[in-house]
Amino acid sequence: MKTEQKQILTLCVNGRERRFTVGRDPCDVPPSETLVHTLRDRLGLTAAKLGCDQGACGACTVIIDGEAVPSCSVLSVECEGKSITTLEGLEDPVTGAIDPLQQAFLDNTAFQCGYCSPGVIMAVKALLDKNPKPTAEELQEALSGNYCRCGTHHQVVETVMRFTGQEV
Ligand code: FES
Repeated sequence: MKTEQKQILTLCVNGRERRFTVGRDPCDVPPSETLVHTLRDRLGLTAAKLGCDQGACGACTVIIDGEAVPSCSVLSVECEGKSITTLEGLEDPVTGAIDPLQQAFLDNTAFQCGYCSPGVIMAVKALLDKNPKPTAEELQEALSGNYCRCGTHHQVVETVMRFTGQEV
């Protein structure tokens, strides 16, 4: 009897290659599985939060090949060979210290319940990697897909402006 060869899915998550089989068995990544579930349920990377599950709130935002993307809106199989960074991936690999941007959010209390914070930080991180001194308008535009129910948008903008050495 011929054994069926399963498709292999390779993702580079936080600098580490992760491989999965694609299929319908419980240990496989189903073709319909979105990235947020692969990250959270298979890799234990729970910083990306599941909110709306419809690409509308930004709680699940991660960076894929340099772009901030809601991970509930992309299939894991679509990420073959791509580089994915989650909030966990921002920590210093040697000391384990959190990223200075994340520390700035803590220092300035730019959160309330914190549920949206990982997605917000990843959206800001993707912006700052391309544009280290964004204007408040550019920042607001970059965060237009991130919704905070607690209404901390203003503190987030202030925090990032301070973090980038700009007047608030
Ligand atoms: Fe992905 Fe809301 S959970 S955008």
